[in-house]
Amino acid sequence: MADILDGKALADRIRQKVKKEVSLLQRNGIDVGLGLLLVGDNPASEQYFKTTLGACRKVGITAREFRFPVTVSMNELLNGIHAINRDERIHGLLMLMPLPARINARRVINTLVPEKDIDGLGSISVGRLSADESTIQIIRQEGTNTRNRDILSPAAGSFLPCTPFGVIRLLEHYKVPIKGKHAVIIGKSLAVGKPLSMMFLAKEATVTICHRETRHLGSMTRQADILCSATGKAGLIRGDMVKKGAVVVDVGINMLQDGTMTGDVDFSAVAKKASLITPVPGGVGPVTVAMLLENTVRSAQRAGMLHSSPLRI
Ligand SMILES: NC(=O)c1ccc[n+]([C@@H]2O[C@H](COP(=O)([O-])OP(=O)(O)OC[C@H]3O[C@@H](n4cnc5c(N)ncnc54)[C@H](OP(=O)(O)O)[C@@H]3O)[C@@H](O)[C@H]2O)c1
Repeated sequence: MADILDGKALADRIRQKVKKEVSLLQRNGIDVGLGLLLVGDNPASEQYFKTTLGACRKVGITAREFRFPVTVSMNELLNGIHAINRDERIHGLLMLMPLPARINARRVINTLVPEKDIDGLGSISVGRLSADESTIQIIRQEGTNTRNRDILSPAAGSFLPCTPFGVIRLLEHYKVPIKGKHAVIIGKSLAVGKPLSMMFLAKEATVTICHRETRHLGSMTRQADILCSATGKAGLIRGDMVKKGAVVVDVGINMLQDGTMTGDVDFSAVAKKASLITPVPGGVGPVTVAMLLENTVRSAQRAGMLHSSPLRI
């Protein structure tokens, strides 16, 4: 039976650290601020919005809400982003997706300055990850004192997307070897699958990316030393699709009709074969929120270093 990759426990540790860094910044006159932008009233986005507001409150980050009606025009939204870019009180912005279909989401995302793109979705952040310019953040080992190097890294202007960064942090935390291993990722979205594959490459894994058009999915997944599923399809990964001893990371979130939350993986069947597995809930989700808080505090630290005398941190 597999051991659990406990995301909640790791998220608690990250949040404790963030809380200390937030209060250190406060003592240096910097109030850490996160903007939360929501268009319309999508229930899943509302839920994530509330969770993030609560998480900010617990660590002392000031959350500023930017709510727009579903009828918002492109110009109004872009003006909102320009105002956030100029607002010194906001160190990062979380844009809840999806935006209404008539809004060009890529244009909105790319209007945000990379320094505040704490979910790493803008083209500059994506490019820097692809060019290995921001991967210094995932090459460092947890527990080593490289914080100043993180802050001063050449990619000081961009961030790694929170969910895939959280997956890597979870694997690092449980000392899962990545170098030379075969990582199979299902899903190629810009928010999860694609950046996760880049991060595994940066950690020198051999990477296979699968998607809807992949033929013989099981023959791919059975090769995985580390299998990550990010599709939003409940029950996609069955027990017979996993190699004995594999590490299985379930990024998927699916709400069943009875109101329970489940991932992409048939947990009970796969746990019998895997060596380590994430539960849903309690796996990747809490780490994603913790990484968002960590990226926000990094942004505030960088802004402090760039715009004032160096902080004693
Ligand atoms: N835990 C967290 O913190 C967290 C954070 C973000 C997202 N999520 C969850 O992760 C899941 C993925 O999110 P996302 O934003 O990446 O979603 P997305 O943009 O809809 O992408 C889903 C990906 O899965 C692929 N896919 C869908 N059905 C498939 C199938 N039957 N076989 C193989 N591939 C399939 C799609 O392939 P094509 O590209 O070919 O269509 C696509 O690349 C969702 O359940 C989401 O709620 C969780």
